[in-house]
This record gives sequence, structure tokens and C-alpha cells, in this order.
Amino acid sequence: MPYTPELKNLIKKVEETRPARVERKKKGEEFTGIPVDKRQDILKKYHPDFIAGTRKELKVGASKGYAIAQEYAYILETKSRVDPDKIDLSKVAMETDVLVIGGGGAGNSAALLARENGAKVILATKLRNGDANTMMAEGGIQGASKTWKDSPYYHYLDVLGGGHFVNDPELVYTLVTEAPKALQWLEKLGMIFSKYPDGKLHSMHGGGTSRKRMHYAGDITGAEIMRTVRDEVRNHPEDIKVVEFSPAVELLLDDSGRCVGAVMYNLETEEYFIIKAKAVIMATGGTGRLHIQDFMTTNHYGATGDGLVMSYRAGVPVCFLHTVQYHPTGAVFPEQAEGLLITEKVRGAGANIVNVHGEQFVFEREPRDVEASAIIRECSKDRNNGVPTPTGKFGVWLDAPMIDMLSGEGTVAREFPGKSILFRRYGINISKEPMLIYPTLHYQNGGMEANNKGETKVPGLYMAGEVLGGIHGQNRLMGNSLLDVTVFGRIAGINAAEYIKGFAGNGNLSLDHVKKFNKEVEGAGIKDKVGPMLLPDYSNPDVRKRQLTTEYLGTMR
Ligand code: FUM
Repeated sequence: MPYTPELKNLIKKVEETRPARVERKKKGEEFTGIPVDKRQDILKKYHPDFIAGTRKELKVGASKGYAIAQEYAYILETKSRVDPDKIDLSKVAMETDVLVIGGGGAGNSAALLARENGAKVILATKLRNGDANTMMAEGGIQGASKTWKDSPYYHYLDVLGGGHFVNDPELVYTLVTEAPKALQWLEKLGMIFSKYPDGKLHSMHGGGTSRKRMHYAGDITGAEIMRTVRDEVRNHPEDIKVVEFSPAVELLLDDSGRCVGAVMYNLETEEYFIIKAKAVIMATGGTGRLHIQDFMTTNHYGATGDGLVMSYRAGVPVCFLHTVQYHPTGAVFPEQAEGLLITEKVRGAGANIVNVHGEQFVFEREPRDVEASAIIRECSKDRNNGVPTPTGKFGVWLDAPMIDMLSGEGTVAREFPGKSILFRRYGINISKEPMLIYPTLHYQNGGMEANNKGETKVPGLYMAGEVLGGIHGQNRLMGNSLLDVTVFGRIAGINAAEYIKGFAGNGNLSLDHVKKFNKEVEGAGIKDKVGPMLLPDYSNPDVRKRQLTTEYLGTMR
């Protein structure tokens, strides 16, 4: 749907202030950001993480007492989808060295490195291989590749600063020091980066970065990474078997507590089956489809936090799961695009964010939590400067046409082909018209606890990608997620392959941890809830119940 006459009228105010804003930017006179000593005030008042009454203390499990978003608590405090007594653990359908659960960037990277280090791998995924948040990531991947201006040292400081200095320092160290290697690896596998004629990588700023180290492939960087690693997985069918449409629903431990496989669910036949392995890598991604605090989301349909649920039952504590990322610029018009990511790279390329009066109210490259909070404040009753949408929501303008004025006609179309084409279908030309945006649920800053080898406290169970918590502290910076899935996917693959070299056979397969967890849930008086969710069910009007089935589904294959 193109802009309505009312919105077109409001766009005139953006056009009136645009030439002066472009001139200021050309002179390097950036809009004054939010003073550092005011950031906490804005975050505490407007960031959804701080809204009173939205967190809940966990009543069960390894992190009992830890307060997290109610939606997270809801999925973690569930009983199993399967009745552990009805699963025949002697019927093993498949067996391998390393089972990778998840078909995104982390899962595919893990599978490749496990294979390279001598392991036979099964990569099992809920939908198709590549149906994941990685595929939808747009803006870029950070990495200090331009050594004369940047180094992992500056990258480290930026990651810590963005995360409010509470990140796990070892995980950050690993992320930034492995970054140049990860970029080289992707390129060697065939990833096509946007480059200058001399072969150097294009690089840009993201919010909260002190150096231009965001590298990219147009505005479809995640899709290009996904294409690259998935193609490489396909090149090794003899060593990596891909099992699609088969989510894991429980981890299997043996009687000495090692993780030795998983109970899987065939979405087509609705049967459960068992994959036995010597080690398991959890790479199930994030949780945007929980729609925390009813926010719209950028996330993939399968982002329902299944890995959190299974790992928690197996005894892994949560880590930084109390913080959630709302991407500042989600589309809020037209309605069919609601929640869709408008990459931060648009701001990196110079586009201002302006209110209904065409006024700038925030520097466009604040760290995401600060930027999102400033937008929420602008649209709140306190300021009342939001742009009303035809569906009764509010947003602010992201002034993309500035980019062509700053960097030459055609820059928007060239640098943002994905979004240019998409919005053209709606009758909106983003080279000439601003986009209407509002914060959208984007990322789970935290996840499950693991060290910088991806190891959890459960022997044989590794974490990689968004399900691994602690790297980003309380707020991730742009481009560190595509980096994180590549770096920690590779690391989990290497270490799982190393671990299985000393594996002298498993003991009896067991779901005792599930039985114990089920009892704890019952003991806490929690009823009628089963997980993992697997897929959101938008057809049920009850927001809470719609996301979980209360039935035990399926039979044993
Ligand atoms: O804005 C973006 O393109 C998102 C990138 C990210 O989350 O890293």
C-alpha cells in the first residue's frame, strides 16, 4: 500500500528540513547525541526491559529465582511435549558423531568445522536448512579487517561499551580476535562481499562503533552468508547428513550425565524418533516469535526458543536472558511489512531519524537500546511527536532519501537493493520517500551459559549462535550477530569434534532429567503447559495459549 494522502502531507515536513540536515552532515556537524549521563534515564523510563511488572522470577530449574521476561519464563516453565515413559529409548533411528540442532548460520558453520575436524555430522533442523534468522539479517558483519585504522582491541571496547560493560570478557575476546579469521573463511568459501575496485571490503559504521568495521553484501548480508555455508554443507553429503522438518524436542543424556543425542519430531508424519550422538551442538537461534510485550518482530517464523527450553531441562543455567533487544527501525507501514527489519545500515549511510514535525530528536547511530528508547519516548504521550499510521499506531521517519543527496544519485538503490525492491512493490520509492519505522523485537541479548569453547556444564552439550548468552552483555551492537554465529559456530564444531575423540561409548540413554523437570514444574503448581513451542500458532486468539499446545502430540517411530 503506498502512502496515504495524510502521510504524504506529513512527508512534506521531512522534505522541508532535509536540505539543511544534509548540509549539516556534509560539514560533519552531527546532531548532538543523548549525553552519556542521560542514557540511563532514558533507558530506565522507556526501554521495554525496564517496564515494571514485565519480568517474572523462574520458579524451577537451574536458574530458579532469576527474573526474566514473562514470555521467557512461560516457555521455560513447561513440561515436556513427550511423555518420557512412552519414548522407547532402544529404538535409535539414526546415529552420528556430532548432532547439530539448527539450520542457521551457527548450525551450518558448526557442522562444517566438526566435519573438517574428523566428525560425522547430522544437521537436524525444524524447517528447511537455512530457514533461520541468519537468512533474514541484512546490514553486515563486524570484523577488524582494516588493521591500519582498527584492531580487535577497538572492536573489544565497542562490544563492551555497547553491552554496558557487563559482557563475559572471555567470550568478547574470542569474538573479536576470531573475527578477521571468520571473514576470511567466509570469503574463501565463496561469500561475495561488497567491495571497492581495488578489492578492499566496503566498511561502514554501525550504532555504537568507534571504527568503520561493518562489512556487508548489499543489504542481504545474512542471506549471502547463509547461501555460502549451506552450499558448502551440500558439498559434503557423505559426512554431513541434513535432516529437515524435524525439530528436536528433548535432549538425551546418558546415565553419567553426558549429552548423547536428542528426541526429534517429524513434522510431516508427527512421529518422534531418536538420534544418538557422541556430542550435541545447540544452534536453535532466538525467540522473536514470543512477541515479548506484544512487540512486532523481525524474526523468522521458527524463532521460538526451543533450544533454551531443552537445554534448561538438561541443567544448563540461563545467562543474560533478562535483556532483550528491540531494533530501533522496524517497518510500521505498510501494514503487511509491520515488524520487518529496516537495516541499521540505512542510518550508517547517513539517514536521519525525524519526528512528525520533520525534526531530528536523536543521533541516528546511538547503540540500539538507547536509539530504540528515544524513538519510543518521541512517540509516547510525554512527547507526542509520533507520526500516526492508518492502523492506529505511531512511528517516526527514517529519511533514506538523504543518502542519495550525500553520496550520489543511485546510492540507495545500489546499497539497499533488498529494501528498494520490497518497498517498490508497496508503491513506495525509498530513494525519494522516507520510511515509517518503530522499534521491533529483534534479538535475545542473552541465552544459555557456556564458555568460550561453547561448552556447557553438561558434558557433550555445546552452544553456538543466538542461544549462547553472555557475549553481548545487555545490548548487542549491529553486525556482531552474524559474526557471533560464524565465530561460535566454528568454535563449537571444532571443540565438539575434539571432545568425541576421547569418547569411550555412552551409557544407557536416559530422559530422567525430563522426568525430574516435569515433577519440579508440577511441584511449582504450573499446569497445562508443554514445550518447546516449535511453531507459533497465530490462529488462536488467546495470546498466551495460542503459542503452546497442551496436548502430547505424535507417536514413536
Ligand atoms: O540492522 C541490521 O541490519 C541488523 C543487523 C544486526 O542485527 O546485526
